[in-house]
Amino acid sequence: MPPIVVYLNVMTSALLLLNVGINGFDINKIKNEIYNKRYIANKIIHLSIHGAAQNQSYNRLANFTDKFGNRIAGSQNLENAIDNMLGELTKDGLENVHGEKAMVPHWVRGEESAVMLKPRYHPLSMLGLGSSIGTPPEGIKAEVLVVRTFDELKRKSDQAKGKIVVYNQKWIDYGTSVAYRQNGATAAARVGAVASLIRSVTALSINSPHTGWQDYQVNVTKIPTACITVEDAEMMWRMSQRGEKIVVRLKMNAENLPQVESRNTVAEIRGSTYPDEVVLVSGHLDSWDVGQGAMDDGGGAFISWQALSLIRQLNLRPKRTLRAVLWTAEEEGTFGAGSYWQQHKEEVHKFDFVMESDEGTFTPTGIAITGNNATMEIIREISKLLEPIKATQVLSGQRGEDILYWTSRGVPGGSLLNKNDRYSYFHHSNGDTMTVQNPHEMDLCSAVWAVIAFIVADLEDMLPR
Ligand SMILES: *[C@@H]1O[C@H](CO)[C@@H](O)[C@H](O)[C@H]1NC(C)=O
Ligand SMILES: *[C@@H]1O[C@H](CO)[C@@H](O)[C@H](O)[C@H]1NC(C)=O
Ligand SMILES: *[C@@H]1O[C@H](CO)[C@@H](O)[C@H](O)[C@H]1NC(C)=O
Ligand SMILES: *[C@@H]1O[C@H](CO)[C@@H](O)[C@H](O)[C@H]1NC(C)=O
Ligand SMILES: [Zn+2]
Repeated sequence: MPPIVVYLNVMTSALLLLNVGINGFDINKIKNEIYNKRYIANKIIHLSIHGAAQNQSYNRLANFTDKFGNRIAGSQNLENAIDNMLGELTKDGLENVHGEKAMVPHWVRGEESAVMLKPRYHPLSMLGLGSSIGTPPEGIKAEVLVVRTFDELKRKSDQAKGKIVVYNQKWIDYGTSVAYRQNGATAAARVGAVASLIRSVTALSINSPHTGWQDYQVNVTKIPTACITVEDAEMMWRMSQRGEKIVVRLKMNAENLPQVESRNTVAEIRGSTYPDEVVLVSGHLDSWDVGQGAMDDGGGAFISWQALSLIRQLNLRPKRTLRAVLWTAEEEGTFGAGSYWQQHKEEVHKFDFVMESDEGTFTPTGIAITGNNATMEIIREISKLLEPIKATQVLSGQRGEDILYWTSRGVPGGSLLNKNDRYSYFHHSNGDTMTVQNPHEMDLCSAVWAVIAFIVADLEDMLPR
């Protein structure tokens, strides 16, 4: 055993020297700096998990989502919720609390329904997809063509004219299967269909429709489009395999109204030494117009608030500014984050680290990072301080959509890793309620968020990029 240990140490030192050489950063100095801040990490963890802040982010989120429910971009309700947040952040003693303007889409669902008329009468649980046009008032009644893939639709394109295409696509993973939601209507319109229905993009269904944004492509006829349940899509697939004729009537009053003004919600703890340099923590405050938007992304927004709140409650002030940004209109295509980038891109060199949580706030396991090896090494060292709550995993490839504006321009970024296997079960459905959240899990997530953000913001140097 001893020789192996020595060998590993030599290897590690060689790697460290390499980092110093390449990036001009003294990684050992930074490691030392981080080690000396471990007592701060412990204080944050203790306050969040066992101390006065126990259950706080959950209780705040419950108050908020019970009061406002879901918060779709363009709605007055979202603006009321933002006003409320600005008040709460101010009351919590955070600094520079304000909204920053962003123009956002305004899609309104209206009344909607879908009924299978043949081979038997069966009302379908459905939700129109965001940006879909409506049907004529009497609805669209047409025969159904069920396919499983885009390829199959192409092969059967001569049968699609005048029909409602139903996609019974397989669940593979969200990133893969969501293509049917995004592009299903366009592909169906290209072969002459009059409407399209997708099987909801979820790993588990209890007859639940799961909505989401869809994209019409230019120069393709816009046709109404909605999601139905996994159960109904599979049933219609079986019927079609038996050669049964299926007829559906789809009625949607959906409308795309002119864009309206919304706001990103901002709060800070100003830095003591380099106040112009920023570590940003974020989640989005808007949601779909179903459920309570408690998981997507109430959790991410509220642990980002909580990260600052914990640090304020401990009377800590890092060297750099900690900024929480609660994005607006993420669901329609990161409109708030896009405006924020336009408004702040000249300061890109002052953005030290950007963080986003938008994939659940279940039990945290660590953080996924975009950044160079030296940054990875530094974050790995910081994550060791999360050993008491077993959230020390550091992976490469962060997945925040809103922070992509920054990370794609070289700003190091991180997204929360958590045990979110069940995320798709609730995603964009009426099941996304406060019942999905757990106070202890949110405390753990808040601690991870606060420790990483604080330590990065309090280092002598910005992260290498
Ligand atoms: C936090 O919630 C748990 C139940 O989830 C409860 O047992 C505990 O007493 C709560 N703590 C505080 C400080 O209210
Ligand atoms: C939730 O709202 C109630 C009633 O307004 C208030 O008393 C309580 O302090 C709030 N809790 C949190 C954690 O904000
Ligand atoms: C759409 O159609 C117009 C008019 O025919 C054409 O000028 C334009 O290039 C088309 N755009 C795309 C993306 O195909
Ligand atoms: C970064 O690390 C990876 C894997 O550890 C290695 O393959 C790569 O060469 C390193 N790049 C630099 C610039 O050190
Ligand atoms: Zn989200």
